[in-house]
Amino acid sequence: MSEQKLKNKDLNYYYNIARNLLEDFYDCNGKPGWICTPEKFGVTMGLGGAGQGQTFQANYDTLKQYNLKTSLIKANHDPEMSISIFGKDLTMPVMGASVSGVKLSINDIISEDEFYWGLMKGARDFGSIGMVGNTPACPDDLGVTVAGRNDGWGIPIIKPHSQEELIKLFQLAGKLDVIAVGVDLDGVGSQFWNAHGKPLYRKTEKELGELVDCTEKTVIFKGIMTVNDAVKVLDSGAGACYVSNHGGRPMDCGQGVAEVLPDIAKEISGKIPILADGAVRTGFDVLKVLALGADVALIGRPLAMMSVAGGDEAVKLYYEYVKNDLLISMIMTGCDNLQDVTMDILARSKK
Ligand SMILES: Cc1cc2nc3c(=O)[nH]c(=O)nc-3n(C[C@H](O)[C@H](O)[C@H](O)COP(=O)(O)O)c2cc1C
Repeated sequence: MSEQKLKNKDLNYYYNIARNLLEDFYDCNGKPGWICTPEKFGVTMGLGGAGQGQTFQANYDTLKQYNLKTSLIKANHDPEMSISIFGKDLTMPVMGASVSGVKLSINDIISEDEFYWGLMKGARDFGSIGMVGNTPACPDDLGVTVAGRNDGWGIPIIKPHSQEELIKLFQLAGKLDVIAVGVDLDGVGSQFWNAHGKPLYRKTEKELGELVDCTEKTVIFKGIMTVNDAVKVLDSGAGACYVSNHGGRPMDCGQGVAEVLPDIAKEISGKIPILADGAVRTGFDVLKVLALGADVALIGRPLAMMSVAGGDEAVKLYYEYVKNDLLISMIMTGCDNLQDVTMDILARSKK
């Protein structure tokens, strides 16, 4: 790389660092041709997905089925893309998905603590919220305590431990300066936790209600992929329903998020905020996910790569990159504000 390029700490600079650090699995950031070399027997999946990576691929394929319609002949306005959610004003309706597991999945490059910090501080410096996850390689309260140091701009998403353990962690979050706390219900299928002999559990509707009731914080349930489960989340009194298949990590041969999102939105939109992730890489992808019914689109792997490559600075650059393309895509599709972002701006690909 030339001297000049190295001095210029742009996205490309950090992307190249991530490529070097992540060696043979760096490229699972979403290009269908590159993703998820079928998980090698006995070898960690890195940034990939379970089995043959088909669920991960489904996120791509189902989102790719939609194209944005161009609509240019109308009065010129700078699109308004800021939103208020969970009592915070965000620059745009994009957050960082909860990720974890540097030791087990991301080549053990930096400490889990530093990793979480990069995700959350980078988001906050940009004007957004970063979530952090829960890995068996670290104490279960790590995400909660690191999120609690980010001036109220962090959200820990905790694995579905025993109810007793979860309530303890929710109560800890309740004492700290976090905006919300959540559970990735689909974490129950985590390959890592099984391998570490740490049991995780499916949760009943009653248990969801108990979790909501045990804290004053907004509660988010993540891993929702059906209308049936979304209605149960709504009925639990949760503060948000997070539509996600965990980037295809627990279960192969699953549905893509863009396939299920419109039906879920039809049922619960306007009653509870809908968060959604899955192969969102650019501002153009963000606009599609919002049009399909999400209030907020979330990004996982690219931000994880940025956090290990350059911490908060690199993470913030990624948000800026997404914002620029979101702005252009809103202008090009005739959207002056987020209310204009509906299914009407989408065309189903005929391919
Ligand atoms: C390495 C890695 C670790 C993850 N760890 C967690 C976790 O601890 N908790 C969680 O809720 N989701 C976790 N996820 C799932 C993400 O939150 C997100 O749902 C997924 O990456 C989909 O988004 P993407 O296609 O933008 O990567 C993880 C994903 C990856 C790639």
